[in-house]
Amino acid sequence: MFNFFNKKSKPETICFHTDIHCHLVPGIDDGQKEPEPAADLVERQVTWGISRIFATPHVTQDTFENTPATIEPAFARLKEAVSGRGTDVELYHSAEYRIDNFFQRQLKAGAITPFPGNYILVENSFVQEAWNFDKLLFDLRLQGMKPILAHPERYAYYFKNHDRYKQIKEAGILFQVNLLSLAGFYNKEVKKVAESLVEKGWVDFLGTDMHHARHADAIEGYLSSKEYRRLASQLDGHLLNDTAF
Ligand SMILES: [Fe+2]
Repeated sequence: MFNFFNKKSKPETICFHTDIHCHLVPGIDDGQKEPEPAADLVERQVTWGISRIFATPHVTQDTFENTPATIEPAFARLKEAVSGRGTDVELYHSAEYRIDNFFQRQLKAGAITPFPGNYILVENSFVQEAWNFDKLLFDLRLQGMKPILAHPERYAYYFKNHDRYKQIKEAGILFQVNLLSLAGFYNKEVKKVAESLVEKGWVDFLGTDMHHARHADAIEGYLSSKEYRRLASQLDGHLLNDTAF
């Protein structure tokens, strides 16, 4: 297994090489607005040791009703900016699908772009769990999809009901935790829940969920910390980032 501690780069080399969650496709969600600053963030990720990036713009009813028709041209602008710099990185896109009616319509119409191997990044609303969450995820799995729940540690309505994490996990849903949560970027409670998911061995993927340079700064700070090194050793051999697809 790759040994993180022998790497002398600064900041500390990241413990995965494939980012499956970031908002770098310009102009179509609340992440980057223009291709060049987005390409700056790609370059920063590469300095951490990321070599493959799946950009995942929001697909959310009412706010970001993205479809392949909006994502693909915007992604092409990002790709052009990155390749213009000669940055050594594999760049792809999927999306972060909010579980809502828009997603269900897109799914029916075949207008979604999962990761290779039919893995798909889904998120809940931050206000409440989707009313038909269990059924929807069950149906997704019946269709041969492998749902990855984005940042389970950020849904505050689960904090008083940790059993829910267990139920979801046991239903075969994979968990993607944000590095920013572990870095304490959001709040203490989110950090605590993220750490408890690591402790339980329930973290399948880490992601940056990077939207802007402040996120990159927070991640860099965390990568230089002792706490991060401890986390990397805890997760060693558990993450699917580089092997699932
Ligand atoms: Fe996200």
